[in-house]
Amino acid sequence: MEKFIINGGKTLSGSVRVSGAKNSALKLIAASIMADSRITLKNVPKIEDVATMVEVIKTLGVKVDVDNKKSILEIDPRNIKGCEAPYELVRKMRASVLVAGPLLSKFGSVKLAIPGGCNIGSRGIDLHLKGFEAMGAENVVEHGYIYCRVKGGKTGSRLIGSDINLDFPSRGATENIMMAAVLAKGKTVINNAAQEPEIVDLANFLISMGAEIQGGGTNCITINGVKKLHGTSYSVTPDSIEAGTFITAASLCGGTVEIEDAIWKNLEMFCLKLKEAGVDIDTIGENKIVVSNSGNKLNPVCISTLPYPGFPTDLQPIAVVLLSVVPGISVVTENVFENRFMYVDELNRMGANIKIDGHHAVINGTEKLSGAPVRAFDLRAGAAMILAGLAAEGVTEVSDIYHVKRGYENFEEKLTSIGADIKIAN
Ligand code: EPZ
Repeated sequence: MEKFIINGGKTLSGSVRVSGAKNSALKLIAASIMADSRITLKNVPKIEDVATMVEVIKTLGVKVDVDNKKSILEIDPRNIKGCEAPYELVRKMRASVLVAGPLLSKFGSVKLAIPGGCNIGSRGIDLHLKGFEAMGAENVVEHGYIYCRVKGGKTGSRLIGSDINLDFPSRGATENIMMAAVLAKGKTVINNAAQEPEIVDLANFLISMGAEIQGGGTNCITINGVKKLHGTSYSVTPDSIEAGTFITAASLCGGTVEIEDAIWKNLEMFCLKLKEAGVDIDTIGENKIVVSNSGNKLNPVCISTLPYPGFPTDLQPIAVVLLSVVPGISVVTENVFENRFMYVDELNRMGANIKIDGHHAVINGTEKLSGAPVRAFDLRAGAAMILAGLAAEGVTEVSDIYHVKRGYENFEEKLTSIGADIKIAN
C-alpha cells in the first residue's frame, strides 16, 4: 500500500495555491443532474471523491467529460434515466447521498443505499429524510436501501414547498433540502440552516441555473420552486480547509508562505485563533493569506469546534498538531462529531502529550515531535499526520494515504514546492 515518507524539520517558504473546494464541488456535480442542458464546472479539484461522484452520476445516465489539466467538467444531464445511487458507491463515499435531493426534485422518487458511518461518527441522514417528508415524500427503509418518493404520486410528481426547521444546522441536510426544493411546487423555508461558504456556493450555482433562492449563507434560506433549470458555466469556490491546512503547515515549519485563493472571511475563526496563539498571519486583499515566522513563541489556546462561522471541525485535527508543540496547556473541544480524536494515539506515538477526556483533548505542549511510522485514519487526520511529520525530527511514514488522496489535490507536490521533503513510496 502507498505511504508518504517525510523527512521533517525543513523550513517552508514560497507561494502555494489552493484548489477548488471538495465540499462544494461534490454538491455542484450532484445538483447539475437537475439541468435540462449542459453544465460547465471549472476549478474542480482532481481528487478521488470527485471521481467517485462523477461515477455516481454516470450510473444515472449522465454524460461527463473530465479535463483534469484544466480542472473542468463538462456535464450533459439530458439523457439521465436512473433514480438509484448504487450501494457500492454510497458505501465508498457518504456524500453520494446528495443525489437524493436532485433526483426527488426532478423525478419525484429515488432509491438510495443507506450510507454507513465512518471513522469520525455515525453520520445519520435523519434530518435529510425529515425534510423530504415535510415536502410530501414518504421514506421506506428496506434491505439497506431507502426508497423515497412523492406521496401517492407516480414517478414524476413534484414535491410541495414547506417550512422546515432543522434540529441541527446540518450541511448535508441543508444542501439536500435546498436541491429538493428548487423544482418543488411553491415556497420552502429552511430555518436553522447551515451557513458554510460551500452552502453559499451551492446556492449561487443553483441561482445561475435559474433557481430562485434567497438567504444562502444565513441561517434562514428561502427557495421558490421553478419549473425547470437550465445549463450554466460556474467556477467552484476555493477550498478553505485546504487553505487552513497550508496555513498550519507554515505556522509549524515557518519561513514565509503565501497561500493563494485563501479567503480570510471563509475561515475567519480559524485565522483569529491562530493569531491569538501568536502566529504571524495576515490577509493581502480578498484572497491571499500570508504566514511569516517572526520567531515569536506561540502560546496555548482553547478551541471549540462549531458549525460555521464557528471553528471548523475539519481543521480540528490540524490545529491539534500545531498546539501539540506549543508549550503550556491547550484544550480543544469537538462539538460536531462524536469520535474525531482517533488520530491522537498516533500523534502521541510521535512524542505528543495529549489526553482525551470525552469531547475534550487536553494538550500539554512539548518542545518537539519525533518522526515515527503512523497511520491516516481519515482524510483530515491523515493531513494532520503529514503536518506532524513535517515538523518532527527525523523520518515519518504515513500509511493508508488513500484517505488523504480523497480530498487533497497534488498534496505532496504542493508541499514540495514550498520546501517540504515528502515522497510517495509503496
Ligand atoms: C460535511 O459533512 C462535510 N462533508 C464534512 O467534511 C464536515 O466535517 C461536516 O460537513 C461538518 O462541517 C461534505 O461536505 C462532503 P453535517 P455532513 O450534516 O454534511 C449529524 C471532510 O473531511 N447529523 O453537518 O455529513 C452528523 O452525524 C468531511 O471534508 C445527523 O445526526 O455534516 C454529524 O455529527 C468530514 N443527522 C453532524 O450532524 C443528519 O441527518 C454534522 O453533520 C445529518 C447530520
